[in-house]
Amino acid sequence: MILVTGGAGYIGSHTLSRLKELNEPAIALDNLYSGHRWAIPKGVELVKGNIADQALVEGLIKKHKITSVIHFAAHTAVGESVQNPFKYYRNNTLGSLNLIETCARSGVKHFIFSSTCAVYGNAASNPIRESMPTDPVSPYAASKRMTEVLLHDTEAAGFAMKSVAMRYFNVGGARVAGGLGQATPNATQLVKVAAEVACGKRPKLLIFGTDYPTADGTCIRDYIHVDDLAEAHVQALNYLRKGGKSEIVNIGYGKGYSVMEVVKAMKKVSGVDFAIEIQPRREGDVVAVWADPAKAVSLLGWKPKLDDLDLICRTAYEWERAYQPS
Ligand code: UD1
Repeated sequence: MILVTGGAGYIGSHTLSRLKELNEPAIALDNLYSGHRWAIPKGVELVKGNIADQALVEGLIKKHKITSVIHFAAHTAVGESVQNPFKYYRNNTLGSLNLIETCARSGVKHFIFSSTCAVYGNAASNPIRESMPTDPVSPYAASKRMTEVLLHDTEAAGFAMKSVAMRYFNVGGARVAGGLGQATPNATQLVKVAAEVACGKRPKLLIFGTDYPTADGTCIRDYIHVDDLAEAHVQALNYLRKGGKSEIVNIGYGKGYSVMEVVKAMKKVSGVDFAIEIQPRREGDVVAVWADPAKAVSLLGWKPKLDDLDLICRTAYEWERAYQPS
């Protein structure tokens, strides 16, 4: 049985849905802070609770004979983390510390961790390889990097739990088969926010900085489709099940788009020429990052199928149009 923390959230629910398609038994642990009960696939049990609650997690591991954990539960807004670092270190780092300790002591074998390319900070060059130095520039990024270190040190201390830390680049879009998408309240991610603006749910899109040293002055990111990312988790788990050693793996397509290019794509697929407003730079943002995904491909056998910015924007927009927050 697989325990999916944050299973009611954006990437967690897409991964649960993929696990269900594959008939992989899983249960979700989520405190419903930003996730939704309806996002859990039918037939999958949701336990409402906190990853930091060691008695709860230990009980779940024993009761359900959990052998693998996929850990998504986290706060994810870079800007907010700069304003309120305590919230990020408490939930992301301390929460993960409690979870990892409980899993390791309870005999969990495989642990897949939702990390982020934000751990690289302003990388010296692109594309970014896993061997390049980390230099987190926001509390969000630092909270994730600390969790990677915890996983490493857990194994170094002799626990048998193997891990894959997945450093995602910028995830976007919604399930191609429909019925699922990003429903994070007060989301800050560009693709999600642009889809909300295109649907008239927000009056305009704020562009955080047009004075960066890039061709059009806006930041560059490697946008990946959430279904490809969900599949990468399944493959990471299978890699560990086959006896693979602990690894850190980038998940990105290997190319970058500027904020303005995303705006253009969203306007094109939605047919809505929505308003934008130039704002100062957002604290904690890095200029340009895109992945070298070679390791995910060779090690995990990851074969991304949805490498298409228009498709990412279209699925995000279609989801947003259909979605009414309850
Ligand atoms: C970061 C991480 C990503 C992580 C995510 C969690 C990096 C490079 N990426 O994404 O791995 O999963 O946090 O949330 O650190 N923007 C606007 N207007 C908006 C929203 C965003 O201009 O309304 C701009 C941002 O300033 C940034 C770009 O769009 O330049 C992407 O921002 P966002 O979608 O929030 O993701 P990151 O912060 O890059």
